[in-house]
Amino acid sequence: MEGNDISEMWNDASRWKTGDKWRSFGWNVIEIEGHKIEQIDAAISKANSTKGIPSIIIARTIKGKSVEHMESNPQWHGKAPDSDTVPIINLELDSQFVIAPSIIAGDMTHLENEIKRCVTGRADYIHLDVMDGKFVPNKTFDHNKIKELRSLTILPFDSHLMIDEPVKHVKEYVEAGSDIITVHAEVCDESSFGEIHDLLKHNQVGVGLAINPDTELPVWSYKFIPTLDQLIVMSVVPGKSGQKYIEETHEKMKRLNVILNEHQFSGYIEADGGVTLENAGSCFIDGARCFVGGSAIIGQKDVRGIINEFRIHILKARRKILLDKAYQLGGSTLVKKWIDLHIIGEKKEHIRKIAAQEGYL
Ligand code: DX5
Ligand code: ZN
Repeated sequence: MEGNDISEMWNDASRWKTGDKWRSFGWNVIEIEGHKIEQIDAAISKANSTKGIPSIIIARTIKGKSVEHMESNPQWHGKAPDSDTVPIINLELDSQFVIAPSIIAGDMTHLENEIKRCVTGRADYIHLDVMDGKFVPNKTFDHNKIKELRSLTILPFDSHLMIDEPVKHVKEYVEAGSDIITVHAEVCDESSFGEIHDLLKHNQVGVGLAINPDTELPVWSYKFIPTLDQLIVMSVVPGKSGQKYIEETHEKMKRLNVILNEHQFSGYIEADGGVTLENAGSCFIDGARCFVGGSAIIGQKDVRGIINEFRIHILKARRKILLDKAYQLGGSTLVKKWIDLHIIGEKKEHIRKIAAQEGYL
């Protein structure tokens, strides 16, 4: 991480001088975002490969990270939440989400630059749409391009294989450095997906299954649901970016959630296709926790700004889910208590507004 990234993450810029102190002692200083597992992993490898001088890894973390009313709030240092708010806090912790720009919506002749735009844009994942010209009419790139791009970033590569006979090719995408590999149910059956599943698990690569808008989750896939890491629910007909979100997907997600709950799904749903600022909140409420953005994100000039906007929109949708939970558990009393946990300001006003709109106060 470079200076401005670090100081931006912490209002009090003085704290990021810690690294300079250790540099003045002659140490190899590695400063990372401590909430990103891939950065911790890369930092440990970097420290292990540094010889001749001692290394220190400074992992920047935010106190109370992921619980809005606790984040960076010193009053929660060493303090336990009241038991009646714990189920709401657990729901908040279980509702983390990631943003995955789809780079084919950028300049296909300079994909290395699109990777850089994702990194500086603070994406969580990079969504790589592999198209073979057979499963879908278009061709984009294959594992060779992924291998080439791999060394540019440690951000997780979310490889979406829109290819025929994936069982024959999946190994190449593992070797190219994919962190998650998703294949389409339309070109698999129980046996071939079983082979893919086992290969990916063996190589500690995330196992993903994708279904097209007109495909229901096949019954043969139910046995894999408990160990599936990612389910891509396509909200456009695969083949290109820039298409309009298919509204029927919202209804489909309701049907899917019933099946996933019945089969102990512990992975996350990825919304892929036509996702925009306008519909991201409703995709979140449908159950999506990974948001692919092609034209709506990488197709925009200010990637960091738009990813930040996406996060704000999705956080607003999440606040409603948390208030619903508070009301369900403890009526207006608990809703009021939940609201008052939040420090005076824009977040608290927004939460109060939702509660009033829902008639919870
Ligand atoms: C479509 C791809 C999507 C698409 C996303 O076949 O799987 O990932 O590139 O781009 P937008 O967000 O523009 O639909
Ligand atoms: Zn995709």
